[in-house]
Amino acid sequence: MDMIPLAIPDLRGRESEYLKNCVDDNWVSSAGPYVTEFEERIAERTGRKHAVAMVNGTTALQLALEVAGVRPGDAVIIPDWTFAATANAVIHAGAIPVFVDVTWESWTLDPDLAAAALSNLSDTKIAAIVAVHSLGHPADIDALNEVSTARKIPLIEDAAGAIGSIYKGRPAAGLADLATLSFNGNKLITAGGGGVILTDDQQQAARARHLSSQARVGSRYQHDAIGYNYRMTNVNAAIGLAQVERLDEMIAIKRAIASRYDTALSGRADIHPMPRCEWATINGWLYSVLCGSISDAENLIQHMQDNKIQARSFWESLSAQPPYAAYPKFLSDVSQSLSGRVVSLPCSSNLDADQQTRVLDALSNWQGQQPVRSA
Ligand SMILES: Cc1ncc(COP(=O)(O)O)c(C=O)c1O
Repeated sequence: MDMIPLAIPDLRGRESEYLKNCVDDNWVSSAGPYVTEFEERIAERTGRKHAVAMVNGTTALQLALEVAGVRPGDAVIIPDWTFAATANAVIHAGAIPVFVDVTWESWTLDPDLAAAALSNLSDTKIAAIVAVHSLGHPADIDALNEVSTARKIPLIEDAAGAIGSIYKGRPAAGLADLATLSFNGNKLITAGGGGVILTDDQQQAARARHLSSQARVGSRYQHDAIGYNYRMTNVNAAIGLAQVERLDEMIAIKRAIASRYDTALSGRADIHPMPRCEWATINGWLYSVLCGSISDAENLIQHMQDNKIQARSFWESLSAQPPYAAYPKFLSDVSQSLSGRVVSLPCSSNLDADQQTRVLDALSNWQGQQPVRSA
């Protein structure tokens, strides 16, 4: 029996053909037609005027912060429950992350606590708020937008895993001043590695493009700023373009898997599916469940492993971890309580019906010791 993987690329489109074109046409580096085409398709899919492709989602977020006006020494509000890259991008931009807790309802940034952090840190220059669409579930952008607008600071979506998710009828990554996406191998669509900055502001897009390619001016070796080498290559964009061509099909499969798992798990006291707020239509990126305790979660992962099914523990509170412990934090207890209890299950868009059945059979043969209490 083969191991069922957690979330792997689904490369059943025109990836090989486009990659072959890169080699045949000698366009393998950061110049080349696929980069532009990929950017256009991503802008179209997110309802944005401009998309600027980067080497990954982490660098995309760092540059988005910089073009949004975040300067070294400024502070930036981010959720405490997110991937380390969100905090790292803030720190790489020279800024200070302020960790704010998430809500039980959405596992995304708590707008009331973000407002409280802004009032409490009135002597600190908080230059931006970053909302993360956790597991592809959109954050409450309208509420967060009210908070950021009142303080006249930009709101940025770290929409790394949220392409195709919808918030009140609008596409994720098209909701705030700027947004970033990741096209890492575990995402709903991949470019092998890659990221994109999205904005409706032409000047921000031009600045991001300029800074991402060493801030070079003219055709000589002259520069007007300290830039980066962050531009996506044509090879990565070739894969990304082939993937975006199949985005609707892959989202439909992911949502069908999520809905099948939801039905199978409904009514269970020992495992709860990830949140679904009324404002959200998820893209089904990474189907995850909440267990009653950390030991139940560890036990579930082991049980799945014994059944040749990959399952993995998800994010943990960042401010509780040594590299981030000294930064300011505004916590309820949600992030801490989620830590170690969230388990992600196989949900690749190339997971066939028999494999899904194997996942569900293994889940039904497992019983947690603790009921899930989420408050
Ligand atoms: C919330 C979040 N932000 C940022 C990133 C970073 O993206 P990348 O791995 O492409 O650098 C990820 C990647 O998984 C993520 O989940």
